[in-house]
Amino acid sequence: MKLTDEQQRVLNGSDGEVRQKMLRLLVQLGRLYDASELVPVKSVQVAGVSYKSISEPGLTFLEDFARKGAYVSVPTYTNPAGIDVVAWREIGFPEAFAGKQLRILRAFEAMGAALSLTCTPYLAGNTPGFGDHIAWSESSAVCFANSVLGARTNREGGPSALAAAICGVTPNYGLHQDENRYPEVIIEVDTELRNTTDFGTLGYFVGKEVQHRVPYLRGVPEADTEQLKMMGAAMAASGSLSLFHVENVTPEAGLVPTEGRPVVKVSKTDLDQTRASLNRGKRDVDIIMLGCPHASIKELHMVSECLKGRRLKRPLWICTSRAVRTLAVDAGLVRGIEAAGGKVLADTCAVVAPIEEMGIHTSGVNSGKSAHYLPGLCKQDVVYRSMEELIEEQT
Ligand code: F3S
Repeated sequence: MKLTDEQQRVLNGSDGEVRQKMLRLLVQLGRLYDASELVPVKSVQVAGVSYKSISEPGLTFLEDFARKGAYVSVPTYTNPAGIDVVAWREIGFPEAFAGKQLRILRAFEAMGAALSLTCTPYLAGNTPGFGDHIAWSESSAVCFANSVLGARTNREGGPSALAAAICGVTPNYGLHQDENRYPEVIIEVDTELRNTTDFGTLGYFVGKEVQHRVPYLRGVPEADTEQLKMMGAAMAASGSLSLFHVENVTPEAGLVPTEGRPVVKVSKTDLDQTRASLNRGKRDVDIIMLGCPHASIKELHMVSECLKGRRLKRPLWICTSRAVRTLAVDAGLVRGIEAAGGKVLADTCAVVAPIEEMGIHTSGVNSGKSAHYLPGLCKQDVVYRSMEELIEEQT
């Protein structure tokens, strides 16, 4: 692997132990994947922020690392934490958990990372450009950045993202290179997609079918930001892919070769069966959980419209970034949602919050990704419906 003189000096310890270790990690990773060089990254997004995900060893590691002087050298953003940092007491998050979580956030802050605490940084001011090299971790954000924005990132693990943040570079392999962004399978969609949840259901089906291969979707004439983020998140949950193309919709679809690829057809029956497989819970939910991936201002607007003139029989949480929540407060959307009995939470999400310790057992969700993870990670029965259906049933 070709290293610059400066990188060689850092490897020899010129900038201290932390940068030396982090660069060594990136070089080892690059050698493993036959990378020719390290490329500079414009931003980093670090997952593994919730105490629920990283627990005591992760907390100790981060505090120790911050104490040793670790500091980021490029704009670095953080994934959701396990609590709403401002309203955790009012919402009822366990005190002991919140204490540990706040220590993790202080460690990230000491390292210079922005406490954006969101899986949709691209809706909160960190929007990479087409062709930009970045090093992001959160699977749904990685899928969105590669597919919808045309940026370039592999799905980084916690340590490799942190190393990229500190060194400002990442190994040039995988989705950083043109040839690995070409489609490997064509998906022909032969069914109507009526709402955002249908896009998530399609994404879940496609992820299961293609696993790590890059899919190229035909038969989806249009899709908005919310539908694409929901679809990509579900694909990345049921498969391990980090890039998709949609003909005439996503920016690289017209630039990549498609000839000779195997074809998978998707019918209404496929989506009905996928929906049924995700819908494992009782009808009577303890809570409605929306905002996976974190809600956009448009989604908050749609929820607020749907709740107009209604009163919820069960609690409803919509998770979003603090930046979007602030906009929604100013736009009067949070007031409207709260008037119906809902809450708009920032900084966290149903999957990384300790909801199973908070008396919540059955969650109503509209997201394929949360329907996938909530049973295993949060011991939830899941009712999987569109946002409109969930609200209709609980008002
Ligand atoms: Fe985001 Fe949490 Fe879903 S991190 S993608 S809201 S599981």
